[in-house]
Amino acid sequence: MGEADRCEQHELKEEQQHQQQKKKTMTKTLCNNSIATELFFLLCVGASVFIALDPLRLSIISSDPSFHAKLVEQPPLSALRSLPHDTQSRLSSAQKWSVNGLMGPESLALDPQGAGPYTGIADGRIMKWHGPEIGWQEFAHTTPNRSKDFCDQPIGRPLPELIKRETVCGRPLGLRFHKETGDLYIADAYFGLLRVGQEGGEAQRLVSHVGGQPLTFTNDLDVASDGSVYFTDSSTKYQRRNFFLLVLSGDDSGRVLRYDLKSGETSVVVKGGLQFPNGVTLSKDETFLVIAESVTGRLLRHWLKGPRSGETEVLVVLPGYPDNVRLSKEGDHLWVAMHCRRNLFSQLLGSLPRLRRIFLQLPLPFKHVYRLHNGGTPHGIIAKYSTSNGTLLDVFEDVSGNVVKSASEVDEQNGRLWVGSVLLPYISVFDLHDKNAS
Ligand SMILES: *[C@@H]1O[C@H](CO)[C@@H](O)[C@H](O)[C@H]1NC(C)=O
Ligand SMILES: *[C@@H]1O[C@H](CO)[C@@H](O)[C@H](O)[C@H]1NC(C)=O
Repeated sequence: MGEADRCEQHELKEEQQHQQQKKKTMTKTLCNNSIATELFFLLCVGASVFIALDPLRLSIISSDPSFHAKLVEQPPLSALRSLPHDTQSRLSSAQKWSVNGLMGPESLALDPQGAGPYTGIADGRIMKWHGPEIGWQEFAHTTPNRSKDFCDQPIGRPLPELIKRETVCGRPLGLRFHKETGDLYIADAYFGLLRVGQEGGEAQRLVSHVGGQPLTFTNDLDVASDGSVYFTDSSTKYQRRNFFLLVLSGDDSGRVLRYDLKSGETSVVVKGGLQFPNGVTLSKDETFLVIAESVTGRLLRHWLKGPRSGETEVLVVLPGYPDNVRLSKEGDHLWVAMHCRRNLFSQLLGSLPRLRRIFLQLPLPFKHVYRLHNGGTPHGIIAKYSTSNGTLLDVFEDVSGNVVKSASEVDEQNGRLWVGSVLLPYISVFDLHDKNAS
């Protein structure tokens, strides 16, 4: 055997060994692969069973066996792009006005003497501003059963903890003063329509039932000069603490009611068919009501007087989901506060109730679905419309969500906007004459 032959043979052997090795490795990989496939398959089956049965009852609607997803009318998807934006994000320069660090100043009102503002907070109290020297002090509360020990929030009590106590402590939402009597009228989410005199203290309950049925989610009100108090009951099914189920279901049992101060009678003004009627305001001449409908993201006009009395029509399709609506001082403008913008997710699920139901059966935690629905970074929007014809006049946003993470009400006061929020421990104050404001 020559040197070359030996070398060749060696190479051949090496090649054979190499091949064998390769075969072994391949078999091993194949083996591993099939185990991985099987594991993956099992995982998939497991996950599907878990999702289908939701044994830990993680899905948002597992607590609501009667959940029914209703169609929510949406503007066409193509309209999403043309929704008005505040390209300068002007609200991000708003200042924070703390209410002693307490959570949830939603609605703001000045009394007929111009004192205040007064605002209802998350622990059931109504606070009054006494000027920079004295600051905020407790003014009133909405239930005789409210115990300060149990209810008064320490600074930093988390919102879910506060919400758990609302049924006992009360949750004042809309506030309005009667211009002649100086009484404060309060819509409390759990305790109905109430009134408290200028001395404050415990508010007197005026309405808790209508037609033998309890109010479920009293939300906002306005007082007319003829002694009518118009107010919203956002749903006859969902209380405020379940507001997200109300949003997701599109429940349309909401109503607008009228309490007559003289007779003490309550009557139905707009009977059902409303999907989360929220803020309500009378036009300056009191010929119509403007109702902010939260689930559909619209302003409705309900005629009280004139040839169209009793009719309801859409006045504005909003860029987001509104809470309260308020008139400017002269009455020619409407200020609308919106918690968040419309987005692809909310639009699609709104128009596809069956898909929505299936999606909501998935074991997804509340906070993820909430975030998706709100379109990511929480940020408030406020917009100004013509009261007479619903033309958009301006829109303000805090796109970064630095200050105005959400907006529940906006009040125009001497060139400033006060923005209340149920989700923040302060009022945001925006100067309309600031160089940043156009
Ligand atoms: C206060 O508590 C009592 C006793 O628990 C109850 O009967 C009453 O209805 C409560 N009042 C209100 C306004 O919730
Ligand atoms: C809407 O009303 C405003 C006044 O608030 C007026 O200036 C404007 O021309 C009106 N627009 C339409 C389309 O009627």
